[in-house]
Amino acid sequence: LERRAGPRPLAGRHVLVTSGPTHEPVDPVRYLANRSSGKQGHAIAAAAAAAGARVTLVSGPVALPDPPGAVVVRVETAREMLAAVEAALPADVAVFAAAVADWRPAAAGSQKLKKGAEGPPGLALVENPDILASVARRSAGRPPLVVGFAAETTDVLAHARAKIARKGCDLIVANDVSAASGVMGGDRNTVLLIGRDGSVETWPTLDKDEVARRLVERLAAPASGAAP
Ligand code: CTP
Ligand code: CA
Repeated sequence: LERRAGPRPLAGRHVLVTSGPTHEPVDPVRYLANRSSGKQGHAIAAAAAAAGARVTLVSGPVALPDPPGAVVVRVETAREMLAAVEAALPADVAVFAAAVADWRPAAAGSQKLKKGAEGPPGLALVENPDILASVARRSAGRPPLVVGFAAETTDVLAHARAKIARKGCDLIVANDVSAASGVMGGDRNTVLLIGRDGSVETWPTLDKDEVARRLVERLAAPASGAAP
């Protein structure tokens, strides 16, 4: 087997990555989900492995091959993703790239819902656990570096800044996912890196693989959490 040559700045570190959407069952044949290909999260897992890290990738349902060098835990729902993340801790770095469904149907029927004279069924929703916030706010066993993503369609910077404060993470990778941006399902991404101290770095539009490599470089840098 050929080994990837080059520096291994994350050797000895455990990097935990979430990726992909979650599927929240409505009934045995239907689900509620976010749009997410998993490309960016999987690329980050691959880049971290290439940088020498031990990588655990907790992935929702995606149509992607497992990234080389990562241990992949497949889940379906947000609650399963939270449980898998907790089981994978401790980690030195945690990157939450998954597009987690914010809500799930309050009660998933065990039988397929059928069309009927009553018209469409009402869909009562309950909120899913916030995986990023629950890890970032742990009093014991918080990874020293917690990175979130922010998918926004308007006011990207303002929303991302609010999110970093609300969630308690160290760094937010913010991207514009409005339809015009082509991020969803595409191979390229335009991101802003926002630090806890409010600092902002704008990256040019790059392949998701290149975004991943640069982010991993940043995670390996000594002052990665503080000031980008
Ligand atoms: N996230 C998570 N668990 C959730 C929701 C979001 O871990 N239940 C994580 C995502 O993986 C991402 C970050 O939180 O790293 C921000 O997700 P986003 O959907 O942009 O933010 P929300 O807090 O859900 O707010 P909203 O969707 O209302 O903008
Ligand atoms: Ca959300």
